[in-house]
Amino acid sequence: MTHSITMFMVLISILALANGSYLYPQFYDRSCPQAKQIVQSVVAKVVAKEAHMAASLLRLHFHDCFVKGCDASILLDSGGSIISEKGSVPNRNSARGFEVVDQIKAALEKVCPQTVSCADILALAARDSTVLAGGPNWEVPLGRRDSLGASLSGSNQNIPAPNNTFQTILTKFKLKGLDIVDFVALSGSHTIGNARCTSFRQRLYNNSGNGQPDLSLDQSYAAKLRPNCPRSGGDQNLFFLDPVSPRKFDNSYYKNLIVSKGLLSSDEILFTQNQQTMQLVKQYAANQELFFQQFAKSMIKMGNITPLTGKRGQIRKICRKVNG
Ligand code: HEM
Repeated sequence: MTHSITMFMVLISILALANGSYLYPQFYDRSCPQAKQIVQSVVAKVVAKEAHMAASLLRLHFHDCFVKGCDASILLDSGGSIISEKGSVPNRNSARGFEVVDQIKAALEKVCPQTVSCADILALAARDSTVLAGGPNWEVPLGRRDSLGASLSGSNQNIPAPNNTFQTILTKFKLKGLDIVDFVALSGSHTIGNARCTSFRQRLYNNSGNGQPDLSLDQSYAAKLRPNCPRSGGDQNLFFLDPVSPRKFDNSYYKNLIVSKGLLSSDEILFTQNQQTMQLVKQYAANQELFFQQFAKSMIKMGNITPLTGKRGQIRKICRKVNG
């Protein structure tokens, strides 16, 4: 019995390898043993100078994985036949941290030329950022390769918008192989980082076209937000997603939702639109460890969205452009 289970596992591994879809944490152990350490040290240095960068790097991995899979397509600049994803609605004037990825890549190229993919850099930097902000740790499966192209339309269509309905966002997750639990746990990323006025203004003034604010937003909190997020102008003004502990990765995001202080509509709906997500919000608000465990699992799942492996794609020398 044990023997047949072992054989079965071996067979699964062979099939996965043949399919080229297999990521594993030891991928660079022989080819670039210092890889993880190099990524971690650059991220630590940058985050020590600017704590906000942890959030921005975490988000880059998400915006990468939801478009053509975790293949660093988000990092490509426009040029030749490539139209950069950096100009999409979710990314324009919002996605940041590209210079940090350049810095990590330059450090890696010195020690292990053309060995560590930009897609793996994003996955490692997301994990390191989470840990540096006080969140959970996990082993990052590695071996992703970098895309030869980008998808502006994919970036516009696949990445959820803050005013999407619950069903629309859940569908966008399901299309990527993620479920309702992943939706709730990964939204917990909004325990760190910022949002612009334009991402939630609608909730303050005219939520559903009737000139009324969103009543699922605490009205005294809304009153505090309005001066820096007026009816018009101030689009790019920044607000903390979690004003209680904006740079600390903890479970206060979920506690905020329970008291109607989720900043984005896409945050608050986790507590107001669905019984299952409401229960999960309550559980994560009551038990940070439970949130951390599920977050780590869901991040690994997200990091496994259709990676390029084997001989597909390439290892870019510079993350912003395909190799010439
Ligand atoms: C569930 C659907 C989601 C929606 C609708 C959403 C939407 C947004 C929006 C609108 C912002 C503010 C952007 C701005 O105003 O410039 C934001 C920020 C952020 N998001 Fe999400 N997000 C979602 C899920 C996720 C996931 C899955 C992650 C990571 C795994 C994530 C990580 C972040 C982080 C860390 C920030 C702060 C970025 C910074 O400060 O630079 N989000 N998100």
